[in-house]
Amino acid sequence: MDALLIHGGSPLDGEVRISGAKNAALPILTASLLAAEPLKLANVPHLKDISTVLALLGHMGVRVTLDDKNHVTLCGESIPNKEAPYEMVKTMRAAILVLGPTLARFGEARVSLPGGCAIGSRPVDLHIKGLQAMGAEISIEHGYIHAKCKRLQGARIVMDMVTVTGTENLMMAAALAEGATVLENAAREPEVVDLARCLIAMGAKIEGAGSDIITIHGVDALHGAEYSVMADRIETGTFLVAAAMTGGRVRATHAQPDTLDAVMSKLGEAGAKVSVGPDWIEVESDGRLKSVDVRTAPHPAFPTDMQAQFMAMNTIAEGAASVTETIFENRFMHVQELRRLGANIEVSGHTALVRGVPRLDGAIVMATDLRASACLVLAGLVAAGETTIERIYHLDRGYERIEEKLTQMGARIRRVH
Ligand code: EPZ
Repeated sequence: MDALLIHGGSPLDGEVRISGAKNAALPILTASLLAAEPLKLANVPHLKDISTVLALLGHMGVRVTLDDKNHVTLCGESIPNKEAPYEMVKTMRAAILVLGPTLARFGEARVSLPGGCAIGSRPVDLHIKGLQAMGAEISIEHGYIHAKCKRLQGARIVMDMVTVTGTENLMMAAALAEGATVLENAAREPEVVDLARCLIAMGAKIEGAGSDIITIHGVDALHGAEYSVMADRIETGTFLVAAAMTGGRVRATHAQPDTLDAVMSKLGEAGAKVSVGPDWIEVESDGRLKSVDVRTAPHPAFPTDMQAQFMAMNTIAEGAASVTETIFENRFMHVQELRRLGANIEVSGHTALVRGVPRLDGAIVMATDLRASACLVLAGLVAAGETTIERIYHLDRGYERIEEKLTQMGARIRRVH
């Protein structure tokens, strides 16, 4: 099993090119199931989760071709297999995103129920409820979601909770339904907007993406399109926090500043200097930061996927701050690992109280989920001495070549097998 070895203490300095967004690419790839013509995508990141979903789509019958310029072309002309098997779904719960498109185009789909996940139970009941509201007959048998319908009918659906992939699944299903669908209490995340833009390029009629009411007028068929995936705002935020913590200066290029307002204002509050261009964000800091309170909530509020990274920043900032996680019920597994590095954190319920300490000391720690792994990398970059992070396969799911990108900016980090 791979591990990362980090010698802390070097300020980061330089530029980093941001990759395409994992959480936009995943639903956009499954949108290929909606059309019989090719969908040609640019800026798809090279990540484990991406290859998993490409393998699943290939298994279903999508013709997937990759060219040397990072373009992925997917053709959903014939989909003989309408099933997403357990072996593929258990490693990546976002596979649930094949349910809406497959059901909408073919009137049937069988998708393994995603299992639990480290950060929470993460049910998909709202995905199922929405499809049933559109006329789907759905049963759960032997761990599989069996769905069928003649043709989905447009419906007004009020989502009980804000769900990102739930909104995405239903938006894709509604694209080919008969009549209009209104999704109320829809997720407003930029990745939902990116998917909507891609669907519109394929001929879908969608209004209101990015707001909490999305209206989709169903059409009989979608056609092929060319589309470029948005920049990954969480990768961007992770590197900007690294710059602030290490007392360096980092410019994230090929980024999308308008997707990071909450994160940038928190970095400013912590005392980092944030400057912005059309497609870049730069953070400079002398490493002396003030603790900042953080409370996660659906976009445009502070993103849950940046919670662990800001907790790492608070461990060495001046003062005490609270970090409250409102989206997932168990997204504090990085706390124990940060304590091994010398952090002073007390957890009560969904809130962690972080008291800044003068410094962290390197140790062996273990990654438990994707963003917790990123937070441990950040802590390792500032901890005195050597930090070893084990089980970094979690990291490879969401960060493309992170050690190369950090090394280019002066970090002392390497992967060991
Ligand atoms: C997406 O997960 C992201 N993944 C997550 O990123 C992100 O943390 C999350 O949205 C929140 O922003 C992808 O986009 C592939 P939700 P998703 O449905 O859609 C509850 C990362 O690190 N819920 O918005 O699965 C759920 O349990 C990953 O890149 C239901 O109860 O999250 C959670 O408490 C981690 N029933 C809350 O809603 C449902 O049917 C929000 O979940 C659906 C969700």
